[in-house]
Amino acid sequence: MKHLPGLFRNNRKWALANVEKNPNFYLHLCDIQKPEYLWIGCSDSRVPANEIVGLEPGELFVHRNVANIVPLHDLNAMTVIEFAITKLKIKHIIVCGHYNCSGVKAAIDNNEKGIIGDWLKPIVNLKDRNASELNKHKHGSDKWSRLCELNVIEQVKNLSRLDVVKSTWRTNQYLALHGWIYDLKDGLLRDLHVTMMGD
Ligand code: CO
Repeated sequence: MKHLPGLFRNNRKWALANVEKNPNFYLHLCDIQKPEYLWIGCSDSRVPANEIVGLEPGELFVHRNVANIVPLHDLNAMTVIEFAITKLKIKHIIVCGHYNCSGVKAAIDNNEKGIIGDWLKPIVNLKDRNASELNKHKHGSDKWSRLCELNVIEQVKNLSRLDVVKSTWRTNQYLALHGWIYDLKDGLLRDLHVTMMGD
């Protein structure tokens, strides 16, 4: 399979359907990119950002990585966030985790070495810091789910500590941070109620 013809077939169908729905679809998109939301989610193939929230191309700026984390030393994440805030002037940053996250599970098992182990280290540390709460859960799956939630909450906190976020909050520019979690079992999102909007 050198050329993946099935994917190109799908693409042609999709491209055509867009114009059938709206003849100005591409004209409009080429004009300007003005999304209101930055989505920071997991790379997991079961959590497709735009589809989950019913947004069209042009409406959602997206950053995804393994286990939806916002490490302060990650040039990629930091660039996306700074670009979204200072250039696109997005109004909302949504950190969206999901239950059954294999990245979070790997951090619980803590047996990944090399690059994946390094990447997941912040979640291993988070698990250790919350050991007393997490160990109250009798079932491993509940502990896993709770760590998925705690990870989202932690990443919203990380965002709130960024210079670019703090300096935006000192201006008139609107910026809210949200923490959500997605359930693979029913396709529903849940707000973890950790929204931050500055003072
Ligand atoms: Co995941």
